[in-house]
Amino acid sequence: MIKERVLIGIPGLDEMMGGGLIKNSTCAIIGTYGTGKTTFAIQFLFQGLENGEKCIYISLEESEENIYEKISDRGWDVDTYKNKSLFVIKLDPTDFNLSINSIKKDLPNLIKSVDASRVVIDPISLFEGLFDDNSTRRREMFRFTEMMSGLECTTVLTSETEQNNGYSSRYGLVEYLSDTVLVLRYIRPSDLSEVHTAIEVVKMRRSNHSREIKPYEIQEDKVNVYSEASVF
Ligand SMILES: Nc1ncnc2c1ncn2[C@@H]1O[C@H](COP(=O)(O)OP(=O)(O)OP(=O)(O)O)[C@@H](O)[C@H]1O
Ligand SMILES: [Mg+2]
Repeated sequence: MIKERVLIGIPGLDEMMGGGLIKNSTCAIIGTYGTGKTTFAIQFLFQGLENGEKCIYISLEESEENIYEKISDRGWDVDTYKNKSLFVIKLDPTDFNLSINSIKKDLPNLIKSVDASRVVIDPISLFEGLFDDNSTRRREMFRFTEMMSGLECTTVLTSETEQNNGYSSRYGLVEYLSDTVLVLRYIRPSDLSEVHTAIEVVKMRRSNHSREIKPYEIQEDKVNVYSEASVF
């Protein structure tokens, strides 16, 4: 059966994934600080907005103003979308009960009530960090991804990496629970050379995908993934 695809809107990356994310799947974007997780997530939502879809951005880190500013910095007209088709919600990760309830109860209701087809949680690692033991975290994250997979929306979760392993998320869970895993990395060919950024589609359930590491660049108004180029 041909699976319906959802474009991220970065041509080189959509190509690496065999034509985009699979509709209604969950994708984890894992990378260390500043690699561009938020930028990729915003690009994914913006592609949806351009298609006329409804989008929800749950931010646990940056303020609503910051997110809207990042969107307008890219040359996109925020006012056209703000609270009409784009809903940005900032949660306070220090408020345990509020954040947990917002994500477990309010989010599914919001998705249904606005008929959102694209959802971002940035970063999911701050939500995971709310649980103080590993078994609760594992159980809650399993339930959360199960709940999301029952909804008619494509979800992007971002996570910082575990300190010593650029391929593992902060808590080592989202990469197992997500259908697709994208890893963003810094590559420094030698000590004194300029740092490059590279992306890899590490996992993609139910799809063929490229296994190559490809360079990308974040520019003022767009993200380029050079699927024809090589990082080495
Ligand atoms: N408007 C822009 N023009 C050029 N480069 C940009 C622009 N916006 C972001 N960048 C580049 O993207 C990088 C980080 O973007 P982003 O905030 O998406 O990363 P992140 O992985 O989400 O970071 P964090 O770990 O802090 O959440 C910046 O360090 C910068 O190099
Ligand atoms: Mg970020």
